[in-house]
Amino acid sequence: MAVYINQGGQDSVMPRSHDTKPIQLPPSFNRFILLMGASKGGSGKSTLGVNLAVTAYVCGLKTIIFDTDIEGDSGQQSCMRWAKLRGADGVVVRRARLERIDEAILWAERNGFTFIVIDTPGRDMAGMKQALNLADFMLTPSQPSPLDLQATEPIRRLWAVSTTPSSIALNMVIRDTLPRTRHYVARYAEQGAVLPAFVGRRVQYMDAMERGLGVSEYMPDDIGDREMRQLLTAIFAEAQKRKAA
Ligand SMILES: Nc1ncnc2c1ncn2[C@@H]1O[C@H](COP(=O)(O)OP(=O)(O)O)[C@@H](O)[C@H]1O
Ligand SMILES: [Mg+2]
Repeated sequence: MAVYINQGGQDSVMPRSHDTKPIQLPPSFNRFILLMGASKGGSGKSTLGVNLAVTAYVCGLKTIIFDTDIEGDSGQQSCMRWAKLRGADGVVVRRARLERIDEAILWAERNGFTFIVIDTPGRDMAGMKQALNLADFMLTPSQPSPLDLQATEPIRRLWAVSTTPSSIALNMVIRDTLPRTRHYVARYAEQGAVLPAFVGRRVQYMDAMERGLGVSEYMPDDIGDREMRQLLTAIFAEAQKRKAA
């Protein structure tokens, strides 16, 4: 598959290496709804939502993102803004209201989308609860820091009242501090689930976003692409395991 990349202003098409395995939907799913949820802003919901959507798309899944962070002055519309930079290329992005996400999901299903990402503002816990019941998995990005650990408390309360599988993914991990990362994996694991896939704090996530791309397109086969593939694989594996249980 040829992938369009844009580095330092020079456009080029770089072939994807053959050793990257395509990721498929887990066997028990004919479509997958991923809810990006966190009780804290700035944790990386939009960044990881957009990047996971692109990674799924380059793996051949028909992908849509619903941006529900659209209301009022505090509505970031991060995915809508990204879509504007991207133009009409592959990943579909639509506005949706969290309280009417059931209708949006029906529309996506009718139109054959197989990977549906819901990005949320992370304030509306009531809306999130409803979306959680419709989703196949809720991913909560969180940083390895004491304040971020504390800030997941409202999300953990949601976990307690839903059967939808949910996990923390450690985001903005600083690479040279592995013992710290392990320490926080243990701390988060005490509170609930944490996925065995970490996302580093990397400029490529910001640079790809600025160009309307995901890291799997911007720097295929590089570390960000590998992180997104690992994360998507971990999400699918966990959802499949929970469904089979
Ligand atoms: N893995 C990462 N590496 C570098 N910067 C990141 C990463 N994840 C998020 N960011 C940055 O952190 C900020 C908040 O991320 P964002 O996705 O907007 O969070 P949220 O949607 O949860 O509010 C943004 O400036 C974004 O570029
Ligand atoms: Mg956001």
